[in-house]
Amino acid sequence: MNPIRLHSQRRPSQSPTLHPRFAGLVLAIETSCDETSLALYRNGRLLDCLTASQERVHQRFGGVVPELASRAHVENLPLLLERLLERTRVGLADVELVACTRGPGLEGALLAGLSFAKGLSLALAVPLLGLHHIVAHVYGAFLGARRIPFPLIALVVSGGHTLLLLVEGHGRFELLGTTVDDAAGEALDKGARMLGLPFPGGPLLDRLAASGDARAVALPRPDPGGLNFSFSGLKTALRRVIENGSSASKADLAASFQQAVVEALVRKTEQALLQHPCRALLACGGVSANSLLRRQLALLARRLRARLLIPPPAYCTDNAAMVAACAAYLYPLYGPSSAAIEPMPRWPIERLA
Ligand code: KG4
Ligand code: ZN
Repeated sequence: MNPIRLHSQRRPSQSPTLHPRFAGLVLAIETSCDETSLALYRNGRLLDCLTASQERVHQRFGGVVPELASRAHVENLPLLLERLLERTRVGLADVELVACTRGPGLEGALLAGLSFAKGLSLALAVPLLGLHHIVAHVYGAFLGARRIPFPLIALVVSGGHTLLLLVEGHGRFELLGTTVDDAAGEALDKGARMLGLPFPGGPLLDRLAASGDARAVALPRPDPGGLNFSFSGLKTALRRVIENGSSASKADLAASFQQAVVEALVRKTEQALLQHPCRALLACGGVSANSLLRRQLALLARRLRARLLIPPPAYCTDNAAMVAACAAYLYPLYGPSSAAIEPMPRWPIERLA
């Protein structure tokens, strides 16, 4: 196996609190970027989720190298499957639905997961379901939820996406706002890099910022209007501060930069909730693991009397548990995918099936 970091995301104490409409055994696969993840899920219960992170494969390149990601997925998938079956003592023949991420994401990475899923679906003679990565992130916040309080506002913040969605029901998404340039995670990763942190810098920036003063450095608050976001001006401002030889410590720079990104996310989320009154707010995607964002969203939800749905940090970044939960809810709605489906590297959420 590659020099990967493997972690199990099983939470044995989890009770069967979800009420999926598909109760059978789901094998879920996520390979949209640089995490290979497999999960087994049945009747609202996550049996186990194994994720092989490729962080170390890509770290020395300062970003994800698509070819290396595809190769690592191809190598990791059968090994992870074997371990998952061993750990859960589930027989492959018991699988009733194979679900995988179809897009958006890196084409080769998606192809690795989809081909593996197709092979299993054909060999086991069970249906295949190709899912939208962002939609899967949203359903990741329903893992462990007793009731889903539709309609809700969802803030999706990851390395590649920054979206505000109105979710009116299962599979019913309206795009309210998005970024006009960088995604929030991308901005945090670039900012972290400027501060000398290794890729992906988001989580490290989060940690560094904890000991800094967020008021130490004045950074702009770019606003492209409506419910949209813009982060590239902020990134340029940070570069300028660093190039001008700021006397602020790295921790202060990290805290000030993180504060500016989080403030923009929370401000637009509040506007979305005021424009579309909902009783629930959902946050998901890798950046929703950010400690400041989690605290600020909790305060916002309390102030607006909305319920906050946010996955535990380990389920914010890419994982197959969210794909499994998504499959359980959406399979009855969409039915099986054709065995001929291809990856959709660019799949606008407005074009959901
Ligand atoms: O959802 P995800 O795993 O992959 C994509 O679909 O893009 O998100 C990855 C992003 C990266 O930019 C990473 O730096 C960021 O999520 N991230 C964080 C934190 N944990 C992950 N950003 C800020 N604070 C964190 N604690
Ligand atoms: Zn993601």
